[in-house]
Amino acid sequence: MGRLSIPDINKKYENGETLTMLTAYDAPIARQVDRGGVDMILVGDSAGDNHLGYDDTIPVTLEEALSNTAAVDRTVEDAMVIGDMPFLSYGTSLEESIKNAGKFMKEAGADAVKLETAPYGETTIKIVSRLTELGMPVVGHIGLTPQRMNQIGGGYVQGRGDESSTTVGALVETAEQLEDTGAFSIILEAVTEETGKRVTEAVDVPTIGIGAGRYVDGQVLVITDVLGLSEESYQLSKQYANLNSVIQDAVESYVDDVRGGNFPASENVFDAIDKD
Ligand code: KIV
Repeated sequence: MGRLSIPDINKKYENGETLTMLTAYDAPIARQVDRGGVDMILVGDSAGDNHLGYDDTIPVTLEEALSNTAAVDRTVEDAMVIGDMPFLSYGTSLEESIKNAGKFMKEAGADAVKLETAPYGETTIKIVSRLTELGMPVVGHIGLTPQRMNQIGGGYVQGRGDESSTTVGALVETAEQLEDTGAFSIILEAVTEETGKRVTEAVDVPTIGIGAGRYVDGQVLVITDVLGLSEESYQLSKQYANLNSVIQDAVESYVDDVRGGNFPASENVFDAIDKD
């Protein structure tokens, strides 16, 4: 059948189906996420703090993002795979941005790329326009954009219109500009529910929320939060499993077995000298 295409996503959107997206950063987790039936897998730059051991997304390199995306691409059969362009892999020049976006599709097998966009972010909007003209599907990302965290000053909810938060109007206009330049979907991160609703009403492409409330066209979460592999929990997320404790229990059992002489047993060795 092949992976979900933009027309497939659009059909679901037009039929009023709520879209689903999760992140993944490696092959084993991506395989299970795909088998679980999500529409889209985002190989997010959230790999920074959820996969690569950095404090945040800023240090993630293009090479790391491409490597993660390629690992996911090699295993996913059904979901659309979206490569997330890391900090300063776009925006320094149009030429560099296009070349780097191209690497996600040509080298890493992504079906689309995602770019964070600041409110009225002219440079990024121009890049999105050129990418879509060249045939590269683009997902926009507005609201609390972690690549601008140093500028925003922290994890402040956006759309409140106070000193640490842009206005609903700015986010609506930015979403409209992204739609006009050809973005086929827009992620809204950590915005007021009113912002999620207003942006969703303003554009005719699917909006995907993470902490954007209930009036959007789809939802995305970070897989480590969903699986209970994170050290923190977030109001905008929901934990569906506790893999931290599953993994710890398994490791402790292994350590006990080895130390207690219970592993390897005769069935685990080749040409055993004696049977247990
Ligand atoms: O990098 C990421 O995982 C993201 C999502 C939080 C939308 O951008």
